[in-house]
Amino acid sequence: MRFDVVTLFPELFGPFVATSFVGRAVETGAATFRFESPREHGVGKHRSVDDTPYGGGSGMVMRVDCLVAALEALDATATTRAHRVLLTPQGRPFDQARAIELSRRPALALVCGRYEGFDERVRSFIDEELSLGDFVMTGGEVAAMAVIEATVRLLPGVLGNEDSTRDESHSPERDGLLEYAQYTRPAEFRGLGVPDVLKGGHHGEIARHRAEERRARTGARRPDLLAKKAT
Ligand SMILES: C[S@@+](CC[C@H](N)C(=O)[O-])C[C@H]1O[C@@H](n2cnc3c(N)ncnc32)[C@H](O)[C@@H]1O
Repeated sequence: MRFDVVTLFPELFGPFVATSFVGRAVETGAATFRFESPREHGVGKHRSVDDTPYGGGSGMVMRVDCLVAALEALDATATTRAHRVLLTPQGRPFDQARAIELSRRPALALVCGRYEGFDERVRSFIDEELSLGDFVMTGGEVAAMAVIEATVRLLPGVLGNEDSTRDESHSPERDGLLEYAQYTRPAEFRGLGVPDVLKGGHHGEIARHRAEERRARTGARRPDLLAKKAT
C-alpha cells in the first residue's frame, strides 16, 4: 500500500516510518511512503503557502493552489491515484472501521494542515475528511501518523499473526467491543493476582470468561459501544 503525505514537515516522519512494524512494513514492501511539501509549490521568492483570510480574522490560512499542486505532483508520478484524506478537526472521527476500509485501498494521500487550517476550496479536491478527535492540534501530522499506524498494522503479513488484529478492542470480529483484561507473569504482584480461570488451562472456560469480560468492560467503560451494537 502506498502512503502519500502532504506536509510542511516531512522530517517529522523520519523515525516514524523507520521504526517498529511501520519500519518492517517498509522493509518488506507492504507499505511505501512518499512525502510532498506544499512549500515546493509555494508562491514567490519565499515560497509562501499561506495567506491572510478573506474577510479578516486571526491567523493564516493554507492556500488551495499549493496544496492541490502537491497532491497533483504526487499523482503525476504514480500509477494509481491516491484516495485523498484531509486531516481536520472538522472531519468524521477516525475509528477502526475506517482503518479497515482504508487498509483495503491501494494508495492513500494524507493532507496535513497547519496554521488556522485550509482554504475551504481544498475540500473540492479531496475524497474524505478525518478527525483524530474533538480537540485541536497545531498540525495534521500526528493525525496522519495515527491513520498510518492503524492502517499499516492491518496490512497482510505486517503483524505476523492475523489473529492479533481480530482479537482486540473495536474489532468487527469481536462485535466492536473492548478487549478483555490481560495478564502476564508474575502471577502475584503486591497483592494483585490473576483470575484463577486464566491459569487453569481450560480453553472453553477461558473463552467464556473473556467473552463475559469484554461485555462487562465495554458496559462499564464505553456503554456507547454496546448501544451502537444494539442498533
Ligand atoms: C490549528 S488546526 C486548525 C483548526 C481550524 N482552525 C478549526 O477550527 O477547525 C491546524 C491543522 O491541524 C490539524 N488538526 C488539528 N486538530 C486535528 C484533529 N483533531 N484531527 C485531525 N487533524 C487535526 C488539521 O490538519 C488542521 O488544519
